[in-house]
Amino acid sequence: MIKVVLYTHILAATAWIGGSVLLFALGILLRDRSAQKAVYAHLGPIYGYFETFWLIVLWATGLTMFFHYDFPNIFTHAPDSLLAQLMGTKLIIVGALTVLTIIHMYIAFKTHGMERTTLQNIISRGSSMAIFILNLVIIWYAIGIRDNL
Ligand code: HEM
Repeated sequence: MIKVVLYTHILAATAWIGGSVLLFALGILLRDRSAQKAVYAHLGPIYGYFETFWLIVLWATGLTMFFHYDFPNIFTHAPDSLLAQLMGTKLIIVGALTVLTIIHMYIAFKTHGMERTTLQNIISRGSSMAIFILNLVIIWYAIGIRDNL
């Protein structure tokens, strides 16, 4: 059963990260301003719901495994172990990523189809860049956790 949960977790990670890599690439490769506007206008909301769905699946399956492997006990009795350190760091990064995602989506939906202020642009682009980089770091920690389980 837990194998199905891990499978779903990895599927969700590929969808969640794959989506962000594609949009990141589009931002760089699609230089035509009007084409970019049109693509984001149509793709934006769908992308938002798509990513929200997979992030919720990541949390649900991640927490299921967290309790299955009794991480609360590991944090209590072996807080200095490598496993506890890796999981603790991964949770902090995933927490930061989740907050950044909420901020990014709030601005995206609030300003959809409208001109953005400079501040909104900076926060929106900064958060998506940070989410992108944090994702790459999370994979590293995820592999470390699996190696030490
Ligand atoms: C953006 C969010 C997340 C991403 C991209 C992500 C990614 C991954 C990936 C790719 C693996 C598989 C690693 C491997 O097989 O080598 C993994 C494993 C794992 N994740 Fe996550 N994860 C996320 C969130 C979470 C959360 C929120 C939790 C816990 C609350 C969690 C707990 C775990 C655990 C316990 C494993 C190890 C399971 C096992 O190897 O059997 N993850 N994660």
